Amino acid sequence: MTADAISVTNLTKTFGGQRSLFGGRSHEVKAVKDVTLALKQGETLAIVGESGSGKSTLARMVVGLETPTSGEMQIAGKDAAVLNAEGPRAFGQMIQYVFQDPVSSLNPRKTIGSILETPLRLLKGYDRAKRKARMKELMDAVHMPADSLERYPHEFSGGQSQRIAIARALAAEPQIMVLDEPVSALDVSVQAQVLLLLEDLRKEFDLSYLFISHDLAVVESISDRVAVMFFGEVVEVGSSEQLFRSPQHEYTERLISSAPRLETGAN
Ligand SMILES: Nc1ncnc2c1ncn2[C@@H]1O[C@H](COP(=O)(O)OP(=O)(O)OP(=O)(O)O)[C@@H](O)[C@H]1O
Ligand SMILES: [Mg+2]
Repeated sequence: MTADAISVTNLTKTFGGQRSLFGGRSHEVKAVKDVTLALKQGETLAIVGESGSGKSTLARMVVGLETPTSGEMQIAGKDAAVLNAEGPRAFGQMIQYVFQDPVSSLNPRKTIGSILETPLRLLKGYDRAKRKARMKELMDAVHMPADSLERYPHEFSGGQSQRIAIARALAAEPQIMVLDEPVSALDVSVQAQVLLLLEDLRKEFDLSYLFISHDLAVVESISDRVAVMFFGEVVEVGSSEQLFRSPQHEYTERLISSAPRLETGAN
């Protein structure tokens, strides 16, 4: 049996609660409470929930940007604490992330070529010739012309920038991608293109996706399973089909009935 792509057990993250200079304690926020969840190999698992429900905090812990307060995480069967001890490189080779704001995620002073070259050098250790060849392949994979490599981030639209951010994530040749609202900042027409691209890439490179979104229409179109977060807890997990047809939790029901685009799309 192959290990799950990601498996988290009783994962909790608390912010604040430290003793302040004046003797009191800062306000404590339990952003993620006791979450147990698995992303299976090759699937797209969506995380939905309203603003502040803990989706990004969960994502940031999974990619090693935030340390859990308690609980356990395994990435492709490997203990995250062990991966962490090996350094950011070990994490980066297995799991990559793409965030909401494509423009600010790309360094404005670097060409696209140099942005893509960094992971190829640091994470893959490719020589110059191999890096050049891979950069062209990556641009091709996200349907961008090869001459984009000599240009700067401000020369691209939001949708193009997100393709570039996806190419940078792919450069590491990860098994897993965490996508935190990857299309939310894009026009609706561009959203569909990027979602199709993500779906093609997942099949082509045999990736597993943890896909975070508050847009249920997007989630229904892309995910195999859905986990619903509510105030830091996962209140329901199910196949996309089952969850949208017969939600078990009252909050899921509310979430679905308040999504106008989904209702018009249903038959
Ligand atoms: N670095 C931090 N310091 C203190 N509190 C934080 C920090 N990061 C997140 N929080 C708090 O944790 C809770 C969960 O935040 P999180 O960003 O995970 O929510 P989210 O579900 O991603 O929301 P959104 O849909 O708006 O992106 C919120 O109450 C937030 O204010
Ligand atoms: Mg968020």
